Amino acid sequence: MASARQGLFITLEGGEGSGKSTQAHALKALLEKAGRTVTLTREPAGCPLGQRVRELLSEPSLQLDARSELLLFVAGRAQHVAEVIRPALERGEVVICDRFGDSSVAYQGYGRGLSPDDVRLANRIATQGLVPDLTVLLDVPVETGLARKAGEDAPDRIGQEGAEFHQRVRQGYLALAADEPQRFLVVDATLAPEEITRTIWRWLEPLLA
Ligand code: TMP
Repeated sequence: MASARQGLFITLEGGEGSGKSTQAHALKALLEKAGRTVTLTREPAGCPLGQRVRELLSEPSLQLDARSELLLFVAGRAQHVAEVIRPALERGEVVICDRFGDSSVAYQGYGRGLSPDDVRLANRIATQGLVPDLTVLLDVPVETGLARKAGEDAPDRIGQEGAEFHQRVRQGYLALAADEPQRFLVVDATLAPEEITRTIWRWLEPLLA
């Protein structure tokens, strides 16, 4: 599947309140200034099916086993890859995606306790083996991230989980990054947003050549 790709695929990952969307927008602006066409997208809501999945997941009355939750995220991902991400890469664009398969490994694997290998397998089926060229992990202490989100809209199913769940997610992300240091850039997300953007850009610029 990699043979069909000409563009560059960048994903942003991190726990609640890690500042992913701020960085996604800042990177898009820098890339466009450098003359690149950018598709900025996100999961779970990056395509109509993903939006429906997000709505389902936020229905408080709906009973959802961890496996059903995983498969809903993964179904949204399959459609998102087919409908948005792969076509943009084939057009030679830079795709910036706010959350991707690593979110399922961190949240449904490490957070909910499903086997991380099973989650990876589900991701492989959904993405047909599409792997990001660069994944930026915005690492933030759980208390800091949750405090940043405190004033926002009512928390969804996952936002309602306690600090211990989010600690497992954070440790899961750090384990993923340690496993694949060539793909992951881990950034301290307590730094000033502009400093974080500069750090990511230093990594990203050589990949544009
Ligand atoms: P967000 O739109 O604020 O990033 O919220 C999405 C929520 O869904 C966030 O709490 C992380 C969670 N999530 C998963 O648990 N698994 C996934 O695969 C994805 C994409 C998101």
